[in-house]
Order: sequence, then C-alpha cells, then structure tokens
Amino acid sequence: MNGRARGAGPGDDGDREVPLPGGVANRGRVVRVGDTVRRPVRSTSPAVHALLGHLEAVGFDGAPRFLGIDAQGREVLSHVPGEAVLPPYPRWAFTDEALTSVARLLRAYHDAVAAFDPSPHAWHAPLPAEFSGGLVSHNDPNLDNVVFRDGRAVALIDFDLAGPGSRLWDVACAARLWAPLRPEATIHDARRGRSLHRLGLFLDGYGADEVDRSRVLAAVEANQAWFCRLVERYVAAGHAAFAEYSKSDVRMQAEQYRRWLADNDAALRDALEP
Ligand SMILES: Nc1ncnc2c1ncn2[C@@H]1O[C@H](COP(=O)(O)OP(=O)(O)O)[C@@H](O)[C@H]1O
Ligand SMILES: [Mg+2]
Repeated sequence: MNGRARGAGPGDDGDREVPLPGGVANRGRVVRVGDTVRRPVRSTSPAVHALLGHLEAVGFDGAPRFLGIDAQGREVLSHVPGEAVLPPYPRWAFTDEALTSVARLLRAYHDAVAAFDPSPHAWHAPLPAEFSGGLVSHNDPNLDNVVFRDGRAVALIDFDLAGPGSRLWDVACAARLWAPLRPEATIHDARRGRSLHRLGLFLDGYGADEVDRSRVLAAVEANQAWFCRLVERYVAAGHAAFAEYSKSDVRMQAEQYRRWLADNDAALRDALEP
C-alpha cells in the first residue's frame, strides 16, 4: 500500500481478491479485497480522486471513499455494501420506489458536488458544449453503477466518466437508461410498457424545478449519440469487452433508438409535463 490506505482493513493486500462483475470498461479488472475495491487507474484518476475527496468533505455518503493507491498501483475505494443492478435483473430494481430513489440520489449528488471546482483537473472526454458547465456530472448513471440496499439506491459508483457537465445531462442519461427510452421490443423486463410513466416519475423524483424539462429530450438524443461515439472509440482502440458489448451494430442501434425518440416525441413531451 502506498502510505497505508485508510480503512483497508485487516489483511490489507494479503486478502483474497474477488472479481466484481458489472461494468464493461474495466471488465475483469475490478476486484473486492476485504471492505475495499481495487480498480485500475487512468490519466484522469487524480481528478476523480479530488472529486471523491470533495464528496467526503461535504459529508455526501452516496459515493465510495477514495482510500489510496495500493502496491500494484490500483486505486483503493471503500466497498459500498449492497447490490448494483446486474442481469438477470431482479424485480426490486424496477419498482417505482427504486426509480424515485435513483432520481433522489442523483439530485443529492448534484447538490453535494455543486460547490466543487473542476477547473484545476484533467477530466474525461468533454460533453457537447450546450450541456457542459461548471457542475461535475457523473456521466454514467447506468444500472450497474448504482448500488442498492433494501430496494433503494444508496450510492453512485464508477466516476470514471465524470467531468464538467450539468444536472440536465445526468438526468437525461439516467432517464434514458432507467425508464428506459428506447423501442419497446428491446425491453425484456418489468419496465416494458412503462417507459413514459417512468420518465415522468424520474423527473418528479429529481425535483422538477432544477432542470429545464423542455431540454430533456434534446439532451437524451445528444447523450445517446455521445455514448455511441464513446463505445466506437473504445472499439477502435481495440477494447475487447466493448467490442463484445457492441457486436459492431452500435451505430445501427443508436439510429434505431434515435428514430424511436423522434417517432414518440409528442408522447414523450406529454410524459415530461409536470
Ligand atoms: N465501491 C464499490 N462498492 C460496491 N461495489 C462496487 C464498487 N465498485 C465497483 N463495484 C461493483 O463492481 C462492478 C464493476 O465496477 P465498475 O467500477 O463499475 O467497473 P467498470 O469501470 O468496468 O464499469 C459494479 O457494477 C459493482 O457491482
Ligand atoms: Mg461501471
């Protein structure tokens, strides 16, 4: 351990390493060791560590703590007790209460991060200018990046894509993934047939006045395109897990989802009415 990571617990580096499934970017490289998680570092890790330090300083407990760097050069984070939402999806993950708790968690994160100044740090790929500002958004509030306990979202994890963004960008991204906002035929769980209702519910849970509802759908479309480009960049760089994940049809799928948004524009706008 470089210094000694706080809270690493008995056994420290000697503890058994248990692989943690869930994500794509670091597939096979995220492990649990005792009550800590070890993850690869990247060029933007110092920025994320400063962010996690800020969240700790303001007492926000909906994110892991950054505890240090271990002997193998990996970041050491606190392990958040609970479960991320992973396939096969459990029913508790898609209740209205679960969705509202995700929205509230995101809102609490934004309120906690609002006073954090991102300017001294180097962040991940920039967002489209119209959705980028001084607030550091999470930028990847996917199902597998939210830890639940007793059917409620308690923590956001995996801040690798965080960077100067906006509340609107995270709200759009989370609504897109959790409602979800895509063709019915692609939804194979309890969310099927409930996307529009869930979109409204998410906005209400977040707190209606904090984001401009009239811009949500534009943000959803831009977010979809941003992720498509991100995945394409990973695939082009030879990232095996993303290549497997996208199976080379990522652009076609993005176009299919974009068309669904356009075809359902009126219904989506109705769902967004307070
Ligand atoms: N701090 C943490 N506390 C609890 N579980 C975690 C933590 N970090 C990661 N996990 C688990 O490991 C999985 C993969 O970790 P993540 O950091 O999201 O990897 P990736 O960068 O590949 O998406 C998550 O989906 C979650 O199940
Ligand atoms: Mg992840």
